[in-house]
Amino acid sequence: MDDIMRVNSREKRYRWSGRARKGLVLGAALLLGAGCVNSSDKIELLDQDWTHLAGAERVDEGVRIEGLGRAIVPTDDADDQTPVANPPINLRGPVLRVKGDFVLSARLSRLESSPNDSAYLTIYGELPLTQDEWRQEGRAVTLGLEDNDLIVELQDGIDDPERHAYPLPGSARSQGVDVSLARIGDRFSIQINDETVALIDDPGLFDSGVLWFGASARKDGEYLLKSLTARALDKRSEVTVVDNQMPVLSAEEEESAPTGPATASLRRLAEKNHSQLHIGTAVAAIPLLSDQEYARILAREFNMVTPENAMKFQFIHPRPERYAFADADAIVDFAEANDMAIHGHTLAWKEALPRWVTETDYTDQQLKQILAEHIATVVGRYKGRIQSWDVVNEPFEPFGAELRTGSPWYQVMGEDYIAFALKEAHRADPEAKLYINDYALEDPGPKSDAMYALAKSLLAQGVPLHGIGFQMHEDMTDDYQPVEASVFRDNVQRFIDLGLEVRVSEMDVNLQEDDSEERLQQQADYYRSILELALDKPAFTAFSMWGFTDRYSSLQEWWDADGFGNGLIFDAEHQPKPAYFSLQEALKE
Ligand code: XIL
Repeated sequence: MDDIMRVNSREKRYRWSGRARKGLVLGAALLLGAGCVNSSDKIELLDQDWTHLAGAERVDEGVRIEGLGRAIVPTDDADDQTPVANPPINLRGPVLRVKGDFVLSARLSRLESSPNDSAYLTIYGELPLTQDEWRQEGRAVTLGLEDNDLIVELQDGIDDPERHAYPLPGSARSQGVDVSLARIGDRFSIQINDETVALIDDPGLFDSGVLWFGASARKDGEYLLKSLTARALDKRSEVTVVDNQMPVLSAEEEESAPTGPATASLRRLAEKNHSQLHIGTAVAAIPLLSDQEYARILAREFNMVTPENAMKFQFIHPRPERYAFADADAIVDFAEANDMAIHGHTLAWKEALPRWVTETDYTDQQLKQILAEHIATVVGRYKGRIQSWDVVNEPFEPFGAELRTGSPWYQVMGEDYIAFALKEAHRADPEAKLYINDYALEDPGPKSDAMYALAKSLLAQGVPLHGIGFQMHEDMTDDYQPVEASVFRDNVQRFIDLGLEVRVSEMDVNLQEDDSEERLQQQADYYRSILELALDKPAFTAFSMWGFTDRYSSLQEWWDADGFGNGLIFDAEHQPKPAYFSLQEALKE
């Protein structure tokens, strides 16, 4: 895939644990409810919903797939700086349930306007886990046209992909090609225009029995997916399909949870006793749409969401003229369907920028224009639907008073980029509350003082700034204890005294290697102490955590996929931890 590696090939290999895999699979299976098309005949999957796939457009002849070149750019300190391809997945489209032997057939057609473009169709037996610095692959087969070859790539979620290439017939260039992938026993049979070209061992890529689809083309290129069918190969086998539905919590589900009656959920307690304070969490689109338990806890316990990565620049704006809104839209639609507020994240940041922004030789004026246009488009799209935004993220050096100078925004505008971004966001949605968000601000000290001075000066200039987000990514270990709640309380007060709103925006409490019972209790007490200080301050608008379940936590290290993070309030099995119950208790008062 041109300059983008298809898979992260860092030295250490990803190891999926049985536990993690089971979650995704079970979740997906649960989503497949009534209304299935069940048939031993051919099912045309293009009749399902392809309108929510980024880069796809329904046309008379099929689905036109445009290459967005969406990729995850590693952070500056990573050894390997090659971006990792992050092609769109049709999370709200067809989900196929398969049993036994079956065949998937696709007609891939190059367009006259771009006869040499590469075309890819990926079938996922397990979805990847995407963070914004890495992507842990799931299990998948990719069928692709590259130059004069059919490419078949098997990804088992652990090793580098196994890649095969077969020559295409001459006519394929102009007329397109029928490609089939049949699973027969423990082998895949590959056909081109009805001729078998290969038998490949299947390492169990579709053992989950639930298949998802994704499609992409070479960056700046396009192709036509003319048909995509599925068929069971014998009487004992089965293939059914249904569009994945946006999960909505039913009253019954709200009532029955291990955490107690609906009236005791975090959001209901907050709504009853502390209605100015939203209880929030970061949210990712893949688990939201594939793990029903995740969606259920989310809707039940929280009344505010922050898209964890889906609105970051490299995800939502992968090419100069193209946006990929699907994942962000899904989170916004879900929040609205479940009566939750939305906090947007984030517009002007020095990280998560696509290469087209950081590596093109733009004039200052052009870069300024890029930021303005980006803010107008993203904020404008969700105008009236997103109540507040992290307009500027992490403007300061990690632990100092200096502004970060590395971002292109700083480089063209200096400190003024902050006011510029806030004004552009305000123009795009005058009702939205606009925040600056950063970490290591909870202690009074040089960084917090600098933020205070910045906020004060912006307000004095009449810049539309409404609040400060305190991330509160905390660590709790033998050698380190996080800031005391009373210290944070006093520090936050001076921001409130400026007339600003404040929010805890990304709290997690990492226990590192020691998650003994004792530590879990300390974690619980600490969470509670921070929530308590927010409860009765009208200026405190949200108590928001950076995820809620350790299963998909950003504290899960990419090199240790066997492990999970331990900083959130539900464990990797989605069970409430002491921290959950301590928040519940605090909200009862
Ligand atoms: C994190 C995401 O959660 C991860 O998926 C990603 O790998 C790194 O970024 N401060 C922020 C968030 O403002 O955007 C960061 O999110 C965590 C720190």
